[in-house]
Amino acid sequence: MATSDPVRVALLGCGTVGGGVVRLLYDNARYLAERIGAPLEIARVLVRDEDKPRAPELDRSVVTTDPEIVLGDDSIDVYVETIGGVDPAREWVERAIEKKCAVVTANKMLLATSGADLVERAAAAGVDLAFEASVGGGIPIIRTLREALASDWVESLSGIVNGTCNFVLSRMREHGESFDAAVKLAQELGYAEVDPELDVGGHDAAHKLVVLAMLAFGARVSIDEVPTEGIRALEPIDHRFAKRFGYVVKHLAIGRDLGDSVELRVHPALVPEDKPLASVSGVLNAIEIEGRALGPALLVGRGAGAMPTAVSVVADLLDVARARRGNAGGLMTRGIQLRRRAVAPLGALRSRYYVRFRVENRPGTLARIAQALGDANVVVEQMVQEEESGVASIVMTTHEAVEADLSRALDAIAAQPFSRGRAALLRIAR
Ligand SMILES: NC(=O)c1ccc[n+]([C@@H]2O[C@H](COP(=O)([O-])OP(=O)(O)OC[C@H]3O[C@@H](n4cnc5c(N)ncnc54)[C@H](OP(=O)(O)O)[C@@H]3O)[C@@H](O)[C@H]2O)c1
Repeated sequence: MATSDPVRVALLGCGTVGGGVVRLLYDNARYLAERIGAPLEIARVLVRDEDKPRAPELDRSVVTTDPEIVLGDDSIDVYVETIGGVDPAREWVERAIEKKCAVVTANKMLLATSGADLVERAAAAGVDLAFEASVGGGIPIIRTLREALASDWVESLSGIVNGTCNFVLSRMREHGESFDAAVKLAQELGYAEVDPELDVGGHDAAHKLVVLAMLAFGARVSIDEVPTEGIRALEPIDHRFAKRFGYVVKHLAIGRDLGDSVELRVHPALVPEDKPLASVSGVLNAIEIEGRALGPALLVGRGAGAMPTAVSVVADLLDVARARRGNAGGLMTRGIQLRRRAVAPLGALRSRYYVRFRVENRPGTLARIAQALGDANVVVEQMVQEEESGVASIVMTTHEAVEADLSRALDAIAAQPFSRGRAALLRIAR
């Protein structure tokens, strides 16, 4: 590549994120060219529907629906994948790597299922695979883990990484809305998909946690191993009681380095009101990192949307383009060392808990619950009871206990004739 030759970029996909990338590349063209030492040129754009309206800045002559035209173009330097999903994105990213082109992707689902393989393929080919936009939208969490904290050990991380869940939980707490009403509002405002399951089921956050675990702990884990719970089972009463006990309910992705194994889990949790994550509301994302030498650090910002996400994609583009021009391509990928790590079972977790029982209010009920918990070495910290039409909601927080022990006690209590279903359990964040 001669010094002022343009860096030729192919966009695989040009929807919400791809459209933002086009805009940012045009808006900041001069500045980016100065930083790279050559202009970035959008040479090819692959889409599904050629007739759809696109960013007005886009030269329509480069748009095609034929993947072979885009992947077969040997003049391309960098592929930017914003198609989403695993197929055909995976095959196309693999082909781009085989051609020794750098790849930038925003695709957390692809990375969660095949990220370790793709990193290894890219390292073997000596090309960069950059994925800042895959977690936290515009928040520079990947760069922070990969570069800024390369000198330290990340001991744990805890993040609000799904804006839809955070929005829904914030509405339930602050406006007393039901889960369904809050999801409907999120859909009306464009924060939630028509099918919100990927988000509210916790799966999107689990994808992001697998990506974070690669960078933070060098862990190669399978997405199926990550215990994942969504926010569907939460009821307005949980937000009310959480408030009363001094907590905020947040949907968290939590990771901890345990040495041979890693603790990875995604679930709603009670966060103490005075902790930084408790005040992150609406669609914002936030990730708290605990470094051995650094101590705690918090990154907060817009975790989705066309322009915040495009900021991360274009920052990656800038990095890989500069590296390519300086003949230093592949350094980014080579820096990621992965090894297979077991994910610790949730039953082994030691945590404090919030438990909500629904029971018929008969004499002796509370004594039996206390007995079952005591038999399982679970010590109650606080307890509140509310009654409506003979059915009581007994809500308690516990001291630290082993989750498998608590679970056994809840099974035993659920089998009692006074129980109206198994108790709801929420973990209390440290
Ligand atoms: N949206 C966000 O805020 C956000 C934030 C962070 C990360 N991400 C990630 O970024 C990626 C893209 O998300 P998005 O919201 O931009 O999605 P999107 O709006 O649905 O855009 C997808 C693009 O890919 C094209 N496409 C899909 N399947 C294709 C196929 N088989 N062949 C050719 N083109 C195809 C679509 O073409 P048409 O335009 O012709 O339909 C569209 O241009 C996903 O991995 C997502 O998880 C998104």
